[in-house]
Amino acid sequence: MSKRLQMTAVGLLMAVAPTFAAIPTNDAERAKMDEFVSGLMSKMTLDEKLGQLNLPTGGDITTGQAIESNIGAAAAAGQIGGTFNIKGAQKNYEIQKLAVEKSRLGIPLLIGQDVIHGYETVFPIPLALSCSWDMDAIERSARIAAIESSAGGINWTFSPMVDICRDPRWGRIAEGAGEDPYLGSEIARAMVRGYQGKDNLKGNSDILACVKHFALYGASEAGRDYNTVDMSRLRMYNEYFAPYKAAVDEGAATVMTSFNLVDGIPATENKWLVTDVLRDQWGFDGMVVTDYGSIGEVEIHGLEKLPEASARALKAGTDMDMCSFGFIGTLKQGLENGSVTMADIDKAVRRILEAKYKLGLFENPYKYNDLAREAKDIYTPEHRAEARRIAAETFVLLKNQDGLLPLAKKGTIALVGPLADAANQMAGTWSVAAAHWKYKSLKQGFEDAVGKKAKILYAKGANIESDPVRETAHTWGNDIRDLRSDEELLAEAVAVASKADVIVAAVGEGIEGSGESSSRTDISLPASQRRLLEAMLATGKPVVMLNFSGRPTVMEWEAENIPAIMNVWFGGSETADAVPDVVFGDVNPSGKLTASMPRNVGQIPVYYNHYNTGRPKADDNGVFVPYRTNYLDSRNSPLYPFGYGLSYTDFAYTDFALDNATLGADGAITASVTVTNKGKRAGDEVVQFYIRDVAGSIARPVKELKHFERISLKPGESKRVDFRITPEMLKFYNYDLDYVAEPGDFLVMVGPDSERVETLPFVLK
Ligand code: BGC
Repeated sequence: MSKRLQMTAVGLLMAVAPTFAAIPTNDAERAKMDEFVSGLMSKMTLDEKLGQLNLPTGGDITTGQAIESNIGAAAAAGQIGGTFNIKGAQKNYEIQKLAVEKSRLGIPLLIGQDVIHGYETVFPIPLALSCSWDMDAIERSARIAAIESSAGGINWTFSPMVDICRDPRWGRIAEGAGEDPYLGSEIARAMVRGYQGKDNLKGNSDILACVKHFALYGASEAGRDYNTVDMSRLRMYNEYFAPYKAAVDEGAATVMTSFNLVDGIPATENKWLVTDVLRDQWGFDGMVVTDYGSIGEVEIHGLEKLPEASARALKAGTDMDMCSFGFIGTLKQGLENGSVTMADIDKAVRRILEAKYKLGLFENPYKYNDLAREAKDIYTPEHRAEARRIAAETFVLLKNQDGLLPLAKKGTIALVGPLADAANQMAGTWSVAAAHWKYKSLKQGFEDAVGKKAKILYAKGANIESDPVRETAHTWGNDIRDLRSDEELLAEAVAVASKADVIVAAVGEGIEGSGESSSRTDISLPASQRRLLEAMLATGKPVVMLNFSGRPTVMEWEAENIPAIMNVWFGGSETADAVPDVVFGDVNPSGKLTASMPRNVGQIPVYYNHYNTGRPKADDNGVFVPYRTNYLDSRNSPLYPFGYGLSYTDFAYTDFALDNATLGADGAITASVTVTNKGKRAGDEVVQFYIRDVAGSIARPVKELKHFERISLKPGESKRVDFRITPEMLKFYNYDLDYVAEPGDFLVMVGPDSERVETLPFVLK
């Protein structure tokens, strides 16, 4: 393109550039946006419009090479509306520059990335983050992720992932907030606020959130990734939809459709889902993008071929095609044969341009390309300190026999296990921008923590899996395999452990043992690691197990045999410091499970907010009772329930009371409880309130989380914690899908987890 033309492109844009950009909040602002977008659209050719609907991945281009790359050529030709997963401020700037300066209309690009739990400062995986129950911390983690990724040229994150999941076989449970609709909704909101900023996307570190995967992806059958979903509408509305809707209510600017079927139709082309529910019922007026290649997968699901699937997806209300090339490749044909209209195409183009407008890209296409920011805003000491503090809040202390934890910083400590000296595994799945080489291993973290006060001995003891092929599936490119035999590794660990006073075993999954495409049918510790734990116990020394996992682990044997167990998930870039912070007691653990830990795979799905059967079993004591709802060979309850997690101190719950046992239709009543720190250490407790609707017009769950509060208590200190109950929070979708609160009997419960609760009755008039 000639220089003159380049200037024309920029000139064209600037001539119509608005004076306001951000998410419009009133009619005048909306009118201004409409006027600008309509003006721009009136200048666009059909090809340019279809270009906007196209979202291919960037591949990994090298700095300075954008111009020679396919993606660069497509940007310059106006054939893409955006691209994603290119890391580096300079590279993303080069791509943006090609779109802005070389394409005829100079329309800037959406530059996306899977910034799921941080950028280079990596926060714990989302499942772990949810275990903090700390909404401020979660919002701050998203804010820091937005600051860092925008410094890298990103203006759109494919997060939050809010798929409710009750099946830990599904590897992507790692990316979500667990099994609960209410907690999941609160977290979805916090993340949207964090990404998009306080000021409607005005700042240059405020990026578009993309709530995904709409919808029901977490309910894939048998926990196998990409598998079929089939679910009643009641369950959708009352359980699985809540967090998507919460994110939309909070102002999430974009939504990503899911891979799975919803009512027999792939989500991406399901009009009921994308238009009737999302847009019409929930009022979402932002942009919908498909998941990777999902229009192309329609045919493989057993429906139409790409041209018809593209038309159907567009008509369903989907705007942007990620990597199927169906919109750019076939919609012209669709226009000719009448399967789509120009109005259908325009609707999608408008929404994409509006997303760019909201970002302020038409005002300043380089808003996210301030190259100086990359050096100063990424992986800063402040961000790292925050990540370390937050990571420590996510660890869940599952067992602590005789107060084995915290350990004293003295004597000799044997650190063993495949995750003990594996810096490149700490970040956890979907950490696209992680800089593994900058992170410390746990071993280094332990050494730094104890200094000269104690001696740390190390032996690997086991590979993640004995079988090298299986191990590769856990670690992908981040290989950590030790080529010695299992026996040699074990013998070394036994020798090291025999010199120690206490053993800390860092065991579990590898970095990609959970996440996308990492479903497992066996979610217990691999045999090589079980053998290591057995050998450690056999030394007679006290053993602390640190479980690295992206999902609930089946650990009945461990729970019976190992004196202290802490689930540390994948804690992100600062894991190496955050784990010793808690192990040595500088921080008191406060994480609580957000997904039940099953006793065995056969119980799955096992979750706290289930329905009663007509034949409940009164006592979950492990004794089989015929013709009751129970198993011949297992209890019904999980090993560790939703909401469970211990502390180094003890909290007592007393004086649970309701100020009124009758709730008027327009009124409110308050349940309160006194929580006292009975121990000798300060600590945080997550006080949980549940409600049961005793007799509904449809069956209602045995309990539902409705409120929680994270409180800090000094030794001996007490706090009264209140829960204000209103009819609004008793609402649910009835058989006709009306959102109603039904008068009648209710129970309110409070406790430190979903099982150990006290209960009081009340009536809704
Ligand atoms: C995943 C999405 C992700 C997308 C883009 C897909 O495989 O399902 O969660 O955002 O890829 O990387």
